[in-house]
Amino acid sequence: MPLFQPSHPEKVQKIFTQIAQKYDRMNDLASFGLHRLWKKKLIQIAKEKKFTQALDLAAGTGDLALALAKENKFVILCDPNPAMLKIAEKRLEKQKPRVKFLVCSAEKIKLADFSVDLVVTSFGFRNMQNLDQAFREIYRVLKPKGSFLALEFCSYPPRTLFQKASHILFQMYSFVFLPLLARFFKLPPSAYDYLAHSIAQFPNPQEIEKKMIQAGFSFPKKKGKKQSKSFLWGKVQLFSTEKTHSKTSDCPLMI
Ligand SMILES: C[S@@+](CC[C@H](N)C(=O)[O-])C[C@H]1O[C@@H](n2cnc3c(N)ncnc32)[C@H](O)[C@@H]1O
Repeated sequence: MPLFQPSHPEKVQKIFTQIAQKYDRMNDLASFGLHRLWKKKLIQIAKEKKFTQALDLAAGTGDLALALAKENKFVILCDPNPAMLKIAEKRLEKQKPRVKFLVCSAEKIKLADFSVDLVVTSFGFRNMQNLDQAFREIYRVLKPKGSFLALEFCSYPPRTLFQKASHILFQMYSFVFLPLLARFFKLPPSAYDYLAHSIAQFPNPQEIEKKMIQAGFSFPKKKGKKQSKSFLWGKVQLFSTEKTHSKTSDCPLMI
């Protein structure tokens, strides 16, 4: 299945501006609170990385950033949408000396090379215009041996009976439950249409991994096993990667 890539970044921004105030409540209801558990797992892996400066990319309302800042780390929140970041600013008010906000997209991060030792992102890939460019930017701003942890919805082509059944259930979730939820929150039809379509066209995790490897990332192992995890029968993927090369110019796609 081809990767879902939004063609109109302005439309995506308009949608997030429209939903910003209701985003957190909607997120809790739409995921039945599960997004908190997935993010908790990401933070647990992040803590094992012993970082000091982190970047939360597509930070949105800043829940991941808050969890990192509470660990006494310096956190930069980056998101192209000022309305989402405004909510994050309120949420991180008490952490002020340890946080910085940047209005920019993942494809053009306003940071120097080798700025941070950890990059995290959750549920942002589907909104990015050019994922290859975003991965190259993440690689550029990371210090050597830095880590990149990402949560995203994914899908496998349904083959077994169980996979086919769960695929149908997920289609119903996207095209029946989500629109109903969006109507309940009085969101405009364009917002839930975008949500349903971007979710229905989840990228395949192997394709994402391939892109990450092309950008120069490797998948470190712990006790012989990859640290990447999957949840909800593979529908949600936690990618755990590392910047293996020491110089930006070592990255295969940057030469
Ligand atoms: C679904 S929200 C995820 C927010 C938060 N990370 C979370 O897990 O709740 C997606 C976020 O991606 C941001 N976004 C959209 N296009 C982007 C881009 N090109 N680069 C980085 N972030 C982008 C949106 O503004 C929005 O805040």
